[in-house]
Amino acid sequence: MGRTFLERLARFGELPKVPACILVLLLLGGSWAVSYHTGGTKHAYPHLFYVPILLGAFFFRVPGALLTAAAAGILSGPLMPLDVEAGIAQPLGLWLFRMGFFAFIGLLTAVLFSQLDRRLAEVNRLVSALAQHHVRTLIVFAQLHEQRDKSTEGHSQRVAINALRIGQRMGLKGEEINTLYWAGLLHDLGKILVPDGILLKNGPLTAEEFLEIQKHPGFGAETLESISDGFRAVAEGIRSHHERWDGRGYPAGLKGKDIPLAGRIIAVADVFEALTNDRSYRVALPVDLALAYFQREAGVQFDPEVVETFVELHRDGKISVSLHPGDIFESLEEASRRFPGKVR
Ligand SMILES: [Fe+2]
Repeated sequence: MGRTFLERLARFGELPKVPACILVLLLLGGSWAVSYHTGGTKHAYPHLFYVPILLGAFFFRVPGALLTAAAAGILSGPLMPLDVEAGIAQPLGLWLFRMGFFAFIGLLTAVLFSQLDRRLAEVNRLVSALAQHHVRTLIVFAQLHEQRDKSTEGHSQRVAINALRIGQRMGLKGEEINTLYWAGLLHDLGKILVPDGILLKNGPLTAEEFLEIQKHPGFGAETLESISDGFRAVAEGIRSHHERWDGRGYPAGLKGKDIPLAGRIIAVADVFEALTNDRSYRVALPVDLALAYFQREAGVQFDPEVVETFVELHRDGKISVSLHPGDIFESLEEASRRFPGKVR
């Protein structure tokens, strides 16, 4: 998002003291040189002194305004003839009056900038309070469906963290990382609209029930889009987290890089988390078997680049894992045979 004029101005005001001081002194010197070499104060050029005075007030408020106005008054007074060529000096009253006017303008500017500071501080406080409410609301949303299905408690959090790490390793930055985190945290938000009888079913789903489950990415994305346009990128990631690299996923059947990157990353983080933790319809797989599954499915179900990054991160110990100490299966196929059902 582009910065507003006030934000840019506030940033300029954060210039370190020494460079700001040097800038004001250079402008004072420059104003004097231009005024002197164009013939003295009988011409309009001494008005240039207002530039360093306004900047002095901007950078250093009242003390800066008064000091710069005094310096400008002297430079354009005793140190500047009325007419350089004719060698006519300025009357005392004239330059004293000018110096007083410089001080008045400088003071006025400094007071206005101080008011602006107070307003900006208040706006920043409100923005920060709103952002905190916003974050708390989103976290409550994220936890809603996990409250219904205790076996998935903490799932969204781990998916979000692992997705974030994959994104960072892939070189994503700033807003993209932010989007990835929130899409990871809210990816299953739409499950709040899936009936308990399906969501908590202990066994295989019927074709109709599976169709019902397949609506959750769309439900979640639409819920966020209905709150604000600002959630569009997050909603895209949510909507596409069950798409497959080979185009056999849902809801849109997108293929390869047509699937938003956030969706491709969350797909890996989500399935890994689901496989390595107990669910109502199967028990956890050991991490090694889950990783072997990903390597087999790279370029089929998952984006091969994301899988490669994920495996690399796991090797570096950067992936959050929560394992169940219970049953261990020899393979995913064995787990599927003993606990028939679909990975949701
Ligand atoms: Fe999901």
